[in-house]
Amino acid sequence: MKLEKWTRSRYSPTLPLGDNRSQITGSQRHIDLSRKAATEGTVLLKNEENTLPLKKGTKLAIFGIAQFDYVCGGGGSGDVYCEYRRNIYEALRKKDDHVKLFHKLSFYYQDCVLSQYEDGKTFGCLSEVELPDNLLKEASEFTDTALITICRYSTEGEDHLSDGTDPYYELSDAEKAMIEKVCANFKKIIVTLNTGAMIDTSWFSDNEKIQSALMIWQGGMEGALSCADILVGDANPSGKLVDTCARNFSDYPSSYNFHESPDFVEYTEDIFVGYRYFETVPGKKDSVIYPFGYGLSYTTFDITDIHAAKMGEKIVVSAKVTNTGSVKGKEVVQVYYSAPTGKITKPALELCAFRKTKELNPGDCETLLLSFDISSMASYDDTGIIEKSAYVLEKGSYTVLVGNSVRNLKKADFTYELSEDTVTEKLTAYCTPTKLTKRLTADGTYDSVVSAPVERKTFPVSQECKKNIPDEESRKMLIDVVNGEITLDEFVTQLTEEEMIHLLRGHREGFMEMSVSDTGGFGDCEKYGIPFMISADGPAGLRSIPEKAVYATAFPVATMLACTWNTDIVEEVGRAEALELRENNLFVFLAPALNIHRSPLCGRNFEYFSEDPFIAGKMAAANVIGIQSEGVSATAKHFACNNKETNRYYSDSILSERALREIYIKAFEICVKEAHPRAIMSSYNLMNGSYTSENAELITGILRNEWGFDGIVMTDWCNKASQTKEVLAGNDVRMPNCAGTDLPESVAKGEITRNDLATSVKRVLEFIMWFDN
Ligand code: BGC
Repeated sequence: MKLEKWTRSRYSPTLPLGDNRSQITGSQRHIDLSRKAATEGTVLLKNEENTLPLKKGTKLAIFGIAQFDYVCGGGGSGDVYCEYRRNIYEALRKKDDHVKLFHKLSFYYQDCVLSQYEDGKTFGCLSEVELPDNLLKEASEFTDTALITICRYSTEGEDHLSDGTDPYYELSDAEKAMIEKVCANFKKIIVTLNTGAMIDTSWFSDNEKIQSALMIWQGGMEGALSCADILVGDANPSGKLVDTCARNFSDYPSSYNFHESPDFVEYTEDIFVGYRYFETVPGKKDSVIYPFGYGLSYTTFDITDIHAAKMGEKIVVSAKVTNTGSVKGKEVVQVYYSAPTGKITKPALELCAFRKTKELNPGDCETLLLSFDISSMASYDDTGIIEKSAYVLEKGSYTVLVGNSVRNLKKADFTYELSEDTVTEKLTAYCTPTKLTKRLTADGTYDSVVSAPVERKTFPVSQECKKNIPDEESRKMLIDVVNGEITLDEFVTQLTEEEMIHLLRGHREGFMEMSVSDTGGFGDCEKYGIPFMISADGPAGLRSIPEKAVYATAFPVATMLACTWNTDIVEEVGRAEALELRENNLFVFLAPALNIHRSPLCGRNFEYFSEDPFIAGKMAAANVIGIQSEGVSATAKHFACNNKETNRYYSDSILSERALREIYIKAFEICVKEAHPRAIMSSYNLMNGSYTSENAELITGILRNEWGFDGIVMTDWCNKASQTKEVLAGNDVRMPNCAGTDLPESVAKGEITRNDLATSVKRVLEFIMWFDN
């Protein structure tokens, strides 16, 4: 039976969406998908002497509280309320036909973990405990093989420190002491890192006593089961890094000034973020331990028959992948280009296409076809050395390189030659910096940047919205617009300014009993039959509130999803997430989050995909396509430059026009152009001196006019900007009512007109009309 339009906004309880009218939220089907994604996103960093997978019959001693305190995801809005989360000990116990555990040691850790929980510590926030010598001795008599477990937790609203007071990136003293003891007493040592983002890897990469290391990330509710599958060889790891693991924290170019001021952060490394820095700037290659794109497997692959050719406006690449080892597995083919050194400083390599193979049996091969637009190799010229505020392909040779990490590449048999500098896209100087002191160039020196106070552009509304308030009998409802009885323009003439303001504000207080989420919604005007569009967080799944007792599926965090390098899985996850929202009568999913991993210290890295905007954009697009295919709106967030949480309502991200275009909004651009998210969430922070939500150049100039975005823009929750300035900038909805509004006063003073309000109101109504039931 077909439901009437917006049925779900008007009625409860929910209508089950699973097979045979079963509940789909938190269903086994979705939990299986979560586990599958975690398995594909696990990255094998080190595996000397084929220590992994563990041989059948291996006796194993597990060290560290992280064997019980498994962190399935981060906190804050990226949290998910799920029925259970498996831990590593429990997961390995299920493999007792394969490994024999030294339980006494694990029980000791279990007691320690439980007593810390009893003391009020929450999961992920426990301290490593002292390892008693007698237990260590007994464990080493039991076996020569040890598993060291380490976990890390993060949440929004706070960053990590690098001053030794916050063991996050580096190990704590207690962890170091435990590792030292284990290294002195065992012959074979394996490490699992249960973290949402990059942390120090130097302590095991250089340590010959530690043979194997697995980046198991925060893998959702069954991530620990995926970890156990891989440890014993029931699954073969195929994840690849989406961030560079550097030797020292200070090697990341953002490290020196990340915490320089709570009020601002200067992006002085400019476009040289992640591998763009390490692979380009002289002398920095040696600081890399595990490069971008890297990840081992239990089998081996050859990538051969690499061919590339120009076809129309694209470069098409083919590569044959053969499984040359002895177990089945998947490999990722990555394509990078190297642009000519010219007048514009450039990274040595940039990712431009990737694909994962299907599962290949030993001896099997698959030829993958990949392609990318020639114009995607262009650089953004913000100095005018070739063409001011334009994407430019400089003349010269563009090399195409193919392989399985940024460090393991072969040149394709084709080079794209360009004899003249070519402007691929002429744009406008938007969001220019007003006080950026310097920026890095490819040779490691800094350039000064032209940064001066500027008059920001505005985009006046030209369309008039008359007022024509009808009496009750002749009033038209929103459904009449849907049915084509009147136009949206005619409909909006009926609204008073107060009603318009109501539609441009989020509502939460007073609506909590309607929803399993706590983020509120917008719309809701019974008089015109305008339904209430209720939202819920993301990104790791539906965040319901515990009081409502609805368990959702906790999927792996975004970093891990990106490490799958498998857009099909990420799309499938999006579909599953959306079904869980839809079943709970929710319309707007506040995900995906696609800010860039600029520094390992950012408290929200786990919610974001990568240091690289290309893979972040592709993953976000896949996720949005999945979400929206189930009739739920995605909300790509946080637009833009929300790369730090400290003082997040007031911190100013200062960067060049080029870094903004090529790095910080590139993922949004890819996502908007490929997947058409219905909504975008602006960020809390300021960017080059103005709140992003008040920034007409960003929201109207770039997002709407250049990229053709036709959805709504909403604020982040309870931000500190002025709603009048926001609406004038093109930011339609202020979320939720705790945010307050200056609109009534501004309307009274004539600082904002009915026409301005109507522009956003129409976008909100168009957004609402997109939903089916
Ligand atoms: C976060 C958003 C989130 C919102 C609603 C904010 O604190 O920054 O990402 O969607 O809260 O929970």
